[in-house]
Amino acid sequence: MRQNIVAGNWKMNKTLQEGIELAKEVNSLVAGISPKCKIVLGTPFTHITEVVKAVDASKIGVAAQNCADKVSGAYTGEISASMVQSTGAQYVILGHSERRTYYGETNAILKEKTDLALANGLTPIFCIGEVLAERESNKHFDVVKSQIEEALFHLSAEAFGKIVLAYEPVWAIGTGKTASSEQAQEMHAFIRKTLVAKYGEAVANNTSILYGGSCNAANAKELFANPDVDGGLIGGASLKAADFLAIITAF
Ligand code: G3H
Repeated sequence: MRQNIVAGNWKMNKTLQEGIELAKEVNSLVAGISPKCKIVLGTPFTHITEVVKAVDASKIGVAAQNCADKVSGAYTGEISASMVQSTGAQYVILGHSERRTYYGETNAILKEKTDLALANGLTPIFCIGEVLAERESNKHFDVVKSQIEEALFHLSAEAFGKIVLAYEPVWAIGTGKTASSEQAQEMHAFIRKTLVAKYGEAVANNTSILYGGSCNAANAKELFANPDVDGGLIGGASLKAADFLAIITAF
């Protein structure tokens, strides 16, 4: 059966020292409980090795927030999937809307990144989602379907089985405007139906689909109660251990 996951995405926040402190806080808060979900901390590249050391790997995994679309070589400033893997991270967030919008990441580029992440044993947390104008013109299902088809549907069923999806309506990210529980469930069910058509019931039912976009302690329980919402990708509310814990315990 698919896994519930609560993944924090720290984005470009926290110095190394602050990040270690936050990871240790989260670790000690979850030490005394039996979470009903896998916990993932998506940290800046510079923090990964220290965060890996600071947490109990049986409960908490670590994610990079990106990786390069090239294997290695003269690409100044880039971090390859094999480098990420060598830090001890098990996950990599790919296709976040901030990467698509500010750094020009297309579905074609994300296809390359996904292949490299998988080839290096990383689990991609692959983000999809529409902007407000697309929802308002009723194109949100088509947009999300194309993002999945163009970046991921070249994968074999076995390879796709390693993907975690995160539906993040762009209009809900960092805005305080969460998708309603009904909107989230409707899109997640659509995504799963899209996966059934391509890969069949078994793969679709085993794929974790997370919701992201102003998910917080107050709304997580209702969102996670939906049958097709398997957890969250949490931005702002992952930056304080107590807030993040409240989301983890919403399962
Ligand atoms: O990756 C996380 C999402 O962008 C959500 O961010 O929880 O701050 O809205 P947010």
